[in-house]
Amino acid sequence: MATTGLASGRCQLSALGWLRSTEAGRPQIAASTLSTIPELRFDISRTIGDTSSVLPVRYRQSRRGPRGRTIKRHILITGASRGIGAGLARYYAAPDVQLTLLARSEEPLAAVAESCRRDGAIVRYHPVDVGDASTVAAIVTDTSHGPVTLLIANAGIGGSAAVAGPGGEHASDARAIGQVNFQGVINTVAPALAGFAERRSGQIAIIGSLAGVVPLPSSPAYSAAKAGVRAYAIALDRLMRKSGVRVTHIAPGFVATDMSASLAMDLPYLVPLDDAVRLIARAIDKRRQEFIFPWQLRLAAGVLSRLPDWLLVKILDQSQKNLER
Ligand SMILES: NC(=O)c1ccc[n+]([C@@H]2O[C@H](COP(=O)([O-])OP(=O)(O)OC[C@H]3O[C@@H](n4cnc5c(N)ncnc54)[C@H](OP(=O)(O)O)[C@@H]3O)[C@@H](O)[C@H]2O)c1
Repeated sequence: MATTGLASGRCQLSALGWLRSTEAGRPQIAASTLSTIPELRFDISRTIGDTSSVLPVRYRQSRRGPRGRTIKRHILITGASRGIGAGLARYYAAPDVQLTLLARSEEPLAAVAESCRRDGAIVRYHPVDVGDASTVAAIVTDTSHGPVTLLIANAGIGGSAAVAGPGGEHASDARAIGQVNFQGVINTVAPALAGFAERRSGQIAIIGSLAGVVPLPSSPAYSAAKAGVRAYAIALDRLMRKSGVRVTHIAPGFVATDMSASLAMDLPYLVPLDDAVRLIARAIDKRRQEFIFPWQLRLAAGVLSRLPDWLLVKILDQSQKNLER
């Protein structure tokens, strides 16, 4: 059975494996069994060392944060000043978690950071536009506080800002939608990939939309940007899993946030924010490739995407008229 030696230092395995002693009395890990035993946790921080260079599969590397606290996860979230991103930040906030939060507006971002600190997390926040590729890349690849273990590309614009008139979106609005909802995701995710692959660990979640699964005539640019990040997420997941990295694409229907509230229409199967956050976190935890919710709209999307185009357009037009307030 193949084994992998462990060097000296500190780490915690949240893993998938077993330990056994060698003749020399040093702990060894049976690499071939690592992927077979789910959620076995070993706290071996006092006996063995830094395994980050030798562990072949999923692991969580712990490190000492301020005042000797042990940090298990470093989660970076874009669009964390309100809505889904802020909800996810508060959900994950805990004493063994480090959060890096990004959004443009400093004041609400600082307020989210403060509430996460009250729950024990170590929090850094950066007021930045995800369109600013070099600044975002510098934040994402900064390992001085430990590497990011979960990256959530959530920042987006939508709602009434993404609704087209009969002549389509104004060109500058369409560009802005593409710049934030597509290019902003690439700016966030792409710089992180090399480090994740090198460490053979890490997870990425990209928040798309149901509009990326069934393109909506009411929002062509938004639908295109979300379809783009959907394809990006799925292709990346296929590429990166060989390196021990998984990418999860999340496609929400309507979630109760400022974005959906800006729409002048009834919102079918609107999901309360806390429920949406729990569903998203569960899908990330299960390392799913794609999660579309709520289930009613997932089902509808499955049916609609198989219809002939003339019928699909008729149904979407009619339902849009019915929903308009
Ligand atoms: N709510 C829904 O019904 C729904 C449905 C499907 C998909 N989604 C997707 O879910 C994600 C979150 O939406 P939400 O409902 O939480 O929206 P929201 O309440 O409007 O929040 C959007 C977040 O993105 C940030 N953001 C926007 N533009 C940014 C930029 N250029 N750079 C950095 N941050 C930026 C905003 O902060 P600042 O303004 O401070 O920058 C805010 O924190 C989006 O990608 C959205 O498309 C939402």
